[in-house]
Amino acid sequence: MPFYEWSESMSVGVPLIDSDHRALIDLINRLHDALEYGAGPSDMDQVFQSLVAYIEFHFAREEAVLAACGYPSLAEHRAEHDRFTADMRYTRDRYFSGGEAGLGPHLLAFLKDWLNNHILVEDMAYRPFLEGNAEVERAALRFGPGLSDPDPTPPPPRPAGP
Ligand SMILES: [Fe+2]
Repeated sequence: MPFYEWSESMSVGVPLIDSDHRALIDLINRLHDALEYGAGPSDMDQVFQSLVAYIEFHFAREEAVLAACGYPSLAEHRAEHDRFTADMRYTRDRYFSGGEAGLGPHLLAFLKDWLNNHILVEDMAYRPFLEGNAEVERAALRFGPGLSDPDPTPPPPRPAGP
């Protein structure tokens, strides 16, 4: 059984955003497996960097979709993304630079808990604003297709804003 599983209850009603969320969950599972099978810090870091790159790509897509829909809480949502990115980098630096072995499980728990809570609470809050809005699909597609089975290749660079 995977460390972290996506379920229909996590769907925000936008296939490309759901697809991103699945990809992030896959990468967290990959990080978990790397830790479980005793991968060294450099292998762990490689997976982690793929996760960071995908998170940044996903946040950019999601924020563009929310902007296209005139989501009223976009500023707060963006601030939450920024806070998470900063926390993630801080935790990552403690693990990879400080060599604190005990932080591996802590890092995984932090990533899983944050993403789970974010999807089910903050992301779910925008769902009613996106439903039936013709701009959603168009804005999401500007960032390319989602990756349902991400590989270690970094995702495409973050596109320029609207
Ligand atoms: Fe979000």
